[in-house]
Amino acid sequence: MSAATTKEPFYIPQADEVDIFRAAYLSRTPVLLKGPTGCGKTRFLEYMAWNLADEDDGPLRLETVSCNDDLTVGDLVGRYVLEDGGTTWMDGPLLSVAKTGGICYLDEIVEARKDTMVVIHSLTDHRRLLPVTRLGTTFEAHEHFQLVVSYNPGYQSTVKDLKDSTRQRFVAIELDFPPEDVEIQVIVHEAGVERDIAERLCLVARKIRSIQEDMMVEGPSSRVLIHTGRLIQNNVPARKACNAAIALAISDDPEVHAAVRELTNAVFASDD
Ligand SMILES: Nc1ncnc2c1ncn2[C@@H]1O[C@H](COP(=O)(O)OP(=O)(O)OP(=O)(O)O)[C@@H](O)[C@H]1O
Ligand SMILES: [Mg+2]
Repeated sequence: MSAATTKEPFYIPQADEVDIFRAAYLSRTPVLLKGPTGCGKTRFLEYMAWNLADEDDGPLRLETVSCNDDLTVGDLVGRYVLEDGGTTWMDGPLLSVAKTGGICYLDEIVEARKDTMVVIHSLTDHRRLLPVTRLGTTFEAHEHFQLVVSYNPGYQSTVKDLKDSTRQRFVAIELDFPPEDVEIQVIVHEAGVERDIAERLCLVARKIRSIQEDMMVEGPSSRVLIHTGRLIQNNVPARKACNAAIALAISDDPEVHAAVRELTNAVFASDD
């Protein structure tokens, strides 16, 4: 995905993540973003790509790769493809951004096989080199190349944890569900609801998050609350919206559904 936006992405900092990311970028240090799904990692990078722009060149390029078990070194670096009866080399996203500069974002890095990730080792230390065996060449990363990886510590098994030799190459930034005042503003902005509705959605979320471990679910993210707000904004009664976008979205367990319904019925008792 490219950050081809024409205005600054909306992002409200949770803490000091903007300053830390900027310092990491300026000192050519790769960044590991940790945080639950829907907490704002992608939006934060879109915002940083915009704000680290060179005056002449516009926003930094932002390329996202979703990691999975099948991801190969070829998917990241590039491969020969058949074209018009011959073969042509196609740069993969990692090599492409390493050449042009910008942010290459490897989302959910723990889903990738460890042997695939070894390809980033020489890129993520002082060498900043990307060897491409198939081409018999090694590329030096552009001065504005930034590698960012993310993972969600909540539901990952330790078996799939990162190798120490990989994880210790990164400065880590931890994002979580945003503080209440930030989350309310985010919901108002993204869903277009009145502040009162956003406050009540945050209250529901906070209550669920406080018991999420007992219920064995990952609590509703800001993304879930935004979806709920958008249903409400499109005239779905609040309690129905909470059922569809919160209860049914976070779990398949009827007991969780009942618990969430009870909470939302209390918070939105005066509505509908
Ligand atoms: N601090 C914030 N400022 C502005 N928007 C936010 C913030 N936090 C969350 N959001 C909103 O929450 C939604 C989800 O955010 P985003 O897609 O960035 O999450 P994510 O962490 O990348 O999730 P995933 O791990 O599933 O990819 C977006 O619509 C975004 O606007
Ligand atoms: Mg994301």
